[in-house]
Amino acid sequence: MQRSVIRSVGSYLPQRILTNAELATMVDTSDEWIVERTGICQRHIAAEGEFTSHLAVKAAQAALDNAGIAASEIDLIVLATSTPDQTFPATAATVQAELGITQGAAFDIQAVCSGFVYALTIADNFIKSGSASNALVIGAETFSRILDWNDRGTCVLFGDGAGAVVVTAAQPGDEPGRGVLATRLRSDGRYRDKLYVDGGPSSTQTVGHLRMEGREVFKHAVTNISDVMGETLVQAGYEASQIDLFVPHQANRRILDGTARKFGLSTDKVVITVDQHGNTSAASIPLALDVARRDGRLHDGSLVLMEAMGGGFTWGAVLARW
Ligand code: UT7
Repeated sequence: MQRSVIRSVGSYLPQRILTNAELATMVDTSDEWIVERTGICQRHIAAEGEFTSHLAVKAAQAALDNAGIAASEIDLIVLATSTPDQTFPATAATVQAELGITQGAAFDIQAVCSGFVYALTIADNFIKSGSASNALVIGAETFSRILDWNDRGTCVLFGDGAGAVVVTAAQPGDEPGRGVLATRLRSDGRYRDKLYVDGGPSSTQTVGHLRMEGREVFKHAVTNISDVMGETLVQAGYEASQIDLFVPHQANRRILDGTARKFGLSTDKVVITVDQHGNTSAASIPLALDVARRDGRLHDGSLVLMEAMGGGFTWGAVLARW
């Protein structure tokens, strides 16, 4: 059976930076509170007229360039987002057209902050089954558009951005040990009202705003994430001590630290971007991967564990050898 190998990563952040100090002039909050409770110092905000697809195209083009693969070779685009340009068509279709790709399939998937882990797992299964050879897996969000800028409990947490990876098929015997080693996806819809958007085409005919019971989400986070991390390690036959790089979804510094501590992962193995990017939902993992690639921590041969949890609840993990 052919395997999937992650060839490259690319990312894009909007230019405008919104600092905690600036936020404190907009809502009743402070830099101290945000840093202490979340670890966030700043986030990027998309410009007027800059859509999720624009961020996604830039990240995807960077990933293609870094892989040395032409857009015309891509036969699958899986784009994770909760902030599509339009209700339909899929933002992936817009990205496909912008990249000049006319073959294969392009679709969006919706798993909120777990979106990238879901999208990567889907692409891995398409490749393993022989349904695709060269995939673009993208996480792209403009959460600034669905925030209630009067709700200090949520508006300080999120940011905009996009990241992408190119995943290609490797034949048995080629590049031994490399590729996606194990994936695990979970969801539990009983918790759907803990983190949601209070609008939608079928219910209200509006886009709605993000609502969250932060403490409730926090309560489940480390346990759920740890479960799937443990399961992927067992599935692939690895120990936590063998992980070179831990690339968690970037929601809250306290969640990252708690999870890393549980698995005995030292700080140098944990990629942290939440301080600079805030929570960019489905984009946070590929954005963090690109930061680690650029600073040299992510390289060929790295054993990388990615995980995320978000609205639904959804959660999942992917273990891959770079
Ligand atoms: O990516 C998807 C998954 N999402 C997450 O993983 C998010 C999980 N949750 C969290 O990260 C945390 O729960 C938050 C960062 C959202 C909140 O931190 P917390 O320590 O759970 O605070 P809290 O919600 O319990 O609020 C504590 C206090 C409250 O005041 P009272 O009721 O104790 O007087 C809030 O009203 O902090 C207040 N508060 C704020 N104060 C200043 C809430 N937001 C703010 C704010 N600035 N921005």
